[in-house]
Amino acid sequence: MDLQEAMRTTGAARVFTDEAVGDDLLVDILDDARFAPSGGNRQPWHVAVVRDAAIRREIAELMRGVWEEYVGAAATGVTPFAFGRSIDIAPSAAPNAVIDHIDRVPVVLAVAADLHRVALMDGHLDRPAVTAGASVYPFCWNIVLAARARGLGGVITTFLSREEPAAADILGLPSGHALAATIFLGHVDKHPTKLTRRPVSAFTTIDRFDGPPLTR
Ligand SMILES: Cc1cc2nc3c(=O)[nH]c(=O)nc-3n(C[C@H](O)[C@H](O)[C@H](O)COP(=O)(O)O)c2cc1C
Repeated sequence: MDLQEAMRTTGAARVFTDEAVGDDLLVDILDDARFAPSGGNRQPWHVAVVRDAAIRREIAELMRGVWEEYVGAAATGVTPFAFGRSIDIAPSAAPNAVIDHIDRVPVVLAVAADLHRVALMDGHLDRPAVTAGASVYPFCWNIVLAARARGLGGVITTFLSREEPAAADILGLPSGHALAATIFLGHVDKHPTKLTRRPVSAFTTIDRFDGPPLTR
């Protein structure tokens, strides 16, 4: 698949067919994804392929609580869990394809990052650190792209990360590791390719962040 087309048309897929994804295919996907960049090329990721039905159910219940908080907050028009926002908003139940049908999702991947192998360049600042994630999310996105290249769809999610302490026990997350993402993959009937994104001029300015927009 053409790289430009892949970037412009790979949307979040949360509904999958029942077609199984074999180990050969999954290893091929991870074998491509591992070429992602990371700070100092430390490659801090560890992937758990979650197959056990009981473990899946337990993590789904953790995700459900977070999802309901998310829906409740989003309904008020705020960005849920955003910096500087308190979240004393009532949770709201809503269907969620990957949580409700986690037993049928072909591939569930928990992706951890070893924080001993990540440079926390902004870890000392008086705001949430973001640079550590940059050493694991390109890898996560490569997984979705590598899946797409083989006709599969998928989605990166972070709702389980909010429940990391509880999820750590269930998944055997080693100490010093962060639960960066839970990725769902599978074959799809249809790829969600019509993506809504802001135009370049809405997020690019010249010289300074308060500079004039970059346009053609
Ligand atoms: C860092 C990150 C975290 C995300 N977390 C979640 C999540 O917790 N649950 C979920 O359903 N989707 C999650 N998503 C998927 C986004 O909702 C999705 O990429 C976005 O809405 C754009 O969707 P589209 O590509 O189909 O247009 C996440 C995506 C990223 C990159």
